[in-house]
Amino acid sequence: MPARRLELVRPGDLRALLAEGTRAQHEDGDLEAGRQCFERAYRLAEQAGDTESMALAALGLAGLWVREGRTVTSSVLLEARLQHVLALLDPGSALALRVRTRLAGEADYSRGTHADIMAALTEVRATGDPELLAEALRIAHHCLLGPEHVASRRQLAVELTKAAFRTDRRSDLLMGLLWQTADAYCAGDPHAGRLLGELKDHLGQRDHLAVGFVASAIDVMLAIRAGRFDEAEALAAVCASRGAAAGDADHAWWSGAQLVTIRWYQGRLTELLPMLHDRVHSPVLSAVDNSAVAALAVAAALSGDRPGAASALAALCGSDLAALPRSSAWLVTMHGIVEAAYLLEAADVALRAYELLHPHANLPMIGSLGVTCFGSTRHALGVAALTTRQADLAVEHLTAAVQQNLALAHWPALVASRQRLAQAHALRGGPGDADAARRELDAATAEAASAGLPAPEYPGQPVASPAPAVAEIQRVGRKWRVTLHSRGVLVEDSIGMVHLAVLLANPRQEIQAADLVAGVAGLTPGDAGAAQQVLDHEAIAEYRNRLKSLDIEIDQPDARIVLLKGFDERGFTFFTNYHSSKGQQLLENPRACLVFFWKELERQIRISGLSVGVSDKENDEYFKSRPEGSRLGAWASPQSEVIGSREWLEQNEKEIREQFRGKEIGRPPYWGGFRIKPTHIEFWQGRPNRLHDRIRYDLEKNGSWKMKRLAP
Ligand SMILES: Cc1cc2nc3c(=O)[nH]c(=O)nc-3n(C[C@H](O)[C@H](O)[C@H](O)COP(=O)(O)O)c2cc1C
Repeated sequence: MPARRLELVRPGDLRALLAEGTRAQHEDGDLEAGRQCFERAYRLAEQAGDTESMALAALGLAGLWVREGRTVTSSVLLEARLQHVLALLDPGSALALRVRTRLAGEADYSRGTHADIMAALTEVRATGDPELLAEALRIAHHCLLGPEHVASRRQLAVELTKAAFRTDRRSDLLMGLLWQTADAYCAGDPHAGRLLGELKDHLGQRDHLAVGFVASAIDVMLAIRAGRFDEAEALAAVCASRGAAAGDADHAWWSGAQLVTIRWYQGRLTELLPMLHDRVHSPVLSAVDNSAVAALAVAAALSGDRPGAASALAALCGSDLAALPRSSAWLVTMHGIVEAAYLLEAADVALRAYELLHPHANLPMIGSLGVTCFGSTRHALGVAALTTRQADLAVEHLTAAVQQNLALAHWPALVASRQRLAQAHALRGGPGDADAARRELDAATAEAASAGLPAPEYPGQPVASPAPAVAEIQRVGRKWRVTLHSRGVLVEDSIGMVHLAVLLANPRQEIQAADLVAGVAGLTPGDAGAAQQVLDHEAIAEYRNRLKSLDIEIDQPDARIVLLKGFDERGFTFFTNYHSSKGQQLLENPRACLVFFWKELERQIRISGLSVGVSDKENDEYFKSRPEGSRLGAWASPQSEVIGSREWLEQNEKEIREQFRGKEIGRPPYWGGFRIKPTHIEFWQGRPNRLHDRIRYDLEKNGSWKMKRLAP
C-alpha cells in the first residue's frame, strides 16, 4: 500500500483555498478551477479534522449546477463526502441544512423527482438566510426542468433574482437572470429576447464562464431558428470551447445536439450516425437526457437500418413511454421519438407519444436551457396523428404548428411543418385538401428560398416495413386481452374474438373454417389436448400470471369529486389540470367512471366510459367564463404536486396576480376539460326493504342502447 503523504495544514491555507474556490465559482464561473481548489481543500480539511471546512469544500465540489460531475464515480464520491460531513455536523446548524439541501437536490435530480428539494427549500426559506436561499433555489430550479414545470420554474427564477440582491454574489444574479431567460424561451415567451439582451449586458461588463457558456448556446439556437446554418455551426464550435473553458461537462453533448438539429433540417442527419452511436454511451451525458438515443433512432431509420432504429425506439419506450424522465431534454426527445415512430410506422408508439405530448401542445420543443429548438410541439402532435392516420387531427395540429413556428421565427421548423401539413391534407383527401396541400408546399418553397434554406425535400417517407406488427391475444377471465407491442386492451368475449385468437396464434397460415372451430374448442380452458394446437400451456400460464400482476399495478382505482360542467350527446364534461394526478391517470388510461347521488330522492346514477380531451376552443371559451380568481388559481396551483407550504401557494398566487395585472388572463396550456363518452349507464332508485330498482343501459356496437334490469 503506498504511503500517504501528510501535509502540514495551516488554517490560513485552508481558508485561502476555500475563498479561491468560491471566487472561481461565483465570480468567474470557472467550474474547473473551483473544483480543483475545493478538492484540495477537502483533503487538507480532512487531514486537519476541520469538519466545517470539509463541509464547505464538499458543497463547493457539488458546484453551481446539480450533478455537475457526471460520471457515476464522481457522483458517488460527492454523495459519500456530503453524507460523511453531515454525520459530523451539528444537525441543527445552517451548514447541515445546506448539506441536506444539496443531498436532496442531487437525489431528486437523478430520480427525476422534486419533492425532497421542495421540502428542503421550504425549510431554507424559514431561516431567512439569503445565501442559503439562493443556493436552494438554484438547486430546486434544476430539479424542475420538465415541461409541466415551466410556470413554477419561472417563479423560482424570479425569487432567485430577488435573493441575489441580498447575497451580493455575481453568480446568484447572473443565474437568476439566466434561468429567467431560459425559462422564457422554454415557455415560448415572445419577450425572451429582451431578457437575453439584459443578461448579455451583464456578461459584457464582465464575463462569467459558466453562465456565458449557456448564453452562447442560446445564440446557436437562435441562428438555427433563423436558418443560418453555417453561422450556427460556427457558433456551436464557439459554444463548445466556452463550455470546455468553464469546465462544464455539458459542452461535449450540447454542440452535438446543435449539430443534430442543423443536419436534421438540412436533411443530412444520417451523416451523424457514427457520432450518435458514440454519444449514447458517453459517461458524461446526463442520466436523464435521452435525446441522443432519440436522434439515433431517427438517423438509423432514415439510413434504412430498421432493426437499429426499432431497437433504439424500444429502448426509449421501455415498458411504458410515460416512464421516460421528464428532464429538460424530454420535449426534444419526444420529438425524435415521434419522428422515428413515423418513419417506422409504429402507430402504437405514436399514439402513446401523442397522449403524453398533448398537455404541452403549445410549448416550443426546446432542449435544455435553450440549447436547441425543433419548433412547436404541435408539429410532433401532427406527425403522431399522421402516423396513426388521423387526418383531421393531423391537419389541426400542423396548422397550429405553422402559426406557432411563424411566431417563433423558426424558419426551418416552419418549412418542415408546412410540408407535413401538405401531407396531412393529402391524407385527408376531402374537398379543397388537394389545393390546400399545394398551397402549403408552395409557401414552404418560397419561405425556404427567402431564408436561404435548402429547397424543401425532407426525406420523410416511412421506412418500408418488412413485416406487419403482430398482435397477441389472450383470455383473461371472461374477457380477452389484445396486446400490440406495449399497449393492451380488454375486450368483451364473443365468438369472433375466439376466432381472432386462433388466427393470430397461427400467423401466415391458411385456416379452414372447420379447423377454426376446433381451435375454438382448443382455446377453451379445460380442453388441454386441443389447446396445444394454438397456444402453449406454459406460455399461457406465465402470460396470465404476468397479466395478473400488471393488472394489479395498472388498475389500482382512484377517486375524487369534480364539478360536472355540462353534458350533451357527446358525453359528460368536467375541467381540471391536465398535469394533475387525475389528468395523468386519464391520459394513461382513458377508462373513467362517474357516480352521482341524490340522498333525498334516493337516487344514484353510475356512468362508465372513455374519456377524451375537450377541444382547445371549448377549453378557451369555458376558461374565459370563469371568475378572475379561479383563472388566476389555475396558474398559481401546480395541482397534485407536493408544495412546501400554504404560504408558498399564497405567495405564488400574489405574484401571478401581479404578472397578469392589466393583462388578459389566458388559459394555461395544461388546463382544460375531459369528456366522458358513456358506454354504460346505471340508474338506481331506492325502494322499501332494499328491493331497489337497478336499470342498466349498455351501448351496443350499432350505437343503440340495450336496457337490462339488475338485482339490487
Ligand atoms: C365539490 C367539489 C368539487 C370539485 N370540483 C373539481 C373540479 O371541477 N375540477 C378539479 O380539478 N377538481 C375539483 N375538485 C377537487 C378534486 O376533488 C381533487 O381534490 C383535485 O382535483 C386533485 O385531484 P388529483 O390530485 O387526484 O388529480 C372538487 C372537489 C370538491 C369537494
